[in-house]
Amino acid sequence: MQRFLFGPEEEGLHEGEMSASSSRELAQLFEQAKECHNCTLAASRLNVVFGEGNPFAEVAIIGEAPGAEEDASGRPFTGRSGQLLDTMLHTAGFSRQELYICNILKCRPPGNRNPLKDEIRSCMPLLFEQLQIVRPKVILILGKVAANTIFENRLSLGAMRGTMKAWRGFDCCSTFHPAAVLRNPHLKKEWMEDMQLMRDHCETIGRKKNARENEN
Ligand code: URA
Repeated sequence: MQRFLFGPEEEGLHEGEMSASSSRELAQLFEQAKECHNCTLAASRLNVVFGEGNPFAEVAIIGEAPGAEEDASGRPFTGRSGQLLDTMLHTAGFSRQELYICNILKCRPPGNRNPLKDEIRSCMPLLFEQLQIVRPKVILILGKVAANTIFENRLSLGAMRGTMKAWRGFDCCSTFHPAAVLRNPHLKKEWMEDMQLMRDHCETIGRKKNARENEN
């Protein structure tokens, strides 16, 4: 089994150096991922859809798996769901460039079926590695499949959304997948509430950090 693991975290670096170091580590990880044959999806993929964005992002977004457009382009959320995601993020005051966007699976499941357990098991170490490099303050999880995978439960999205939940040291907010919002535009209201929750949480974290720095 291929391992996605890099050296010890670098300490004592300035923000610019950290960012350069994160970019380098992500690029190395991507090179490794391109060679991945840990599950059968390697045989049918056109591209490994590794993930992209700000290597030093405060907010990371995790979707489910690439679709046909993403498989062809090699980039996450470039199809119809991605266009809606961009619009909704923009409305909520976020730009795609400031975020880091990736998926649970890096390769497209045939016919866009749900990820299988073996595929998830093979791909999760890569996601952990990405998150350890980017170290976002907050993670936005898109859709029931991604949220069930991360929290290892079978709850409905309705039961999971609307609150921040800790996972492996990250503060996470689950919300509807843009594909679900495309099917049911009424979900936009809840989506925006979840964005506001995430934004408020980022601000609270920022305030606490400032208070700590002022104390020292
Ligand atoms: N749906 C996802 O979950 N991720 C993508 O990248 C595209 C569609």
